[in-house]
Amino acid sequence: PNDKQPLQQLEQLEQAKSFVQEQLGKDASGHDWWHIARVTRLAKQLAKEEQANEFVCELAALLHDVADEKLNPSAEAGLSKVRAWLMAHHVENDAANQVMEIIATISFKGGNQPPVTTKEAQVVQDADRLDALGAIGIARTFAYAGWKGHAMYDPELPYREQLTQEAYRNGATSAVNHFYEKLLLLKDRMNTASGRQLAERRHQVMEQFLRQFYAEWDGTDADAG
Ligand code: ADP
Ligand code: NI
Repeated sequence: PNDKQPLQQLEQLEQAKSFVQEQLGKDASGHDWWHIARVTRLAKQLAKEEQANEFVCELAALLHDVADEKLNPSAEAGLSKVRAWLMAHHVENDAANQVMEIIATISFKGGNQPPVTTKEAQVVQDADRLDALGAIGIARTFAYAGWKGHAMYDPELPYREQLTQEAYRNGATSAVNHFYEKLLLLKDRMNTASGRQLAERRHQVMEQFLRQFYAEWDGTDADAG
């Protein structure tokens, strides 16, 4: 179906793009339009490689942050907004249900979610996670910390690599800590083979960045050789 995508689907993707641009345009918390654009491109690429439904993956990637709790009165209100959009734009029932399912399962935060089951959800979740990794992931992390008023790094936090949950709840956090609480854990949580491969490279970029960051912080980068 991918090489001769119905005109209607192409139009729906264009309309989704405009809708999302208008919804997220000015967001500074890491959900700006360019995040969506990168995730959508990754989702399309992974969908091809994983033989998932490209239309469903692309549409879900475009809409995945519109329902985010940060931008809506509640997660449920956010999901209703997406559902209404899909109906108003006559997205076929089966595809609409898949898109809703994907957005609902990947947008709820917290570590203990059950793993997603459909190939399309796996693709979109991998694409979203990949944009939190690598050079872009590093940039987003520092941008987010700045937006929240967190430090970029605090050497007096208990352990560089093992901040406790309690300390974290007490507000002891920094951009650098986010690597240990989330970003460095993602490569082992990828769903698809193609996603894992990309994550591996982006993981190395972050590890190298942290090594250099600490070396410069400690003033030992000159003798590192
Ligand atoms: P998404 O919904 O795209 O997965 P999030 O809302 O979880 O993204 O976060 C947006 C961006 O900000 C991501 O790049 C994420 O890694 C980063 N981020 C989230 N929480 C923190 C934090 N406490 N400190 C630094 N960066 C963070
Ligand atoms: Ni996202």
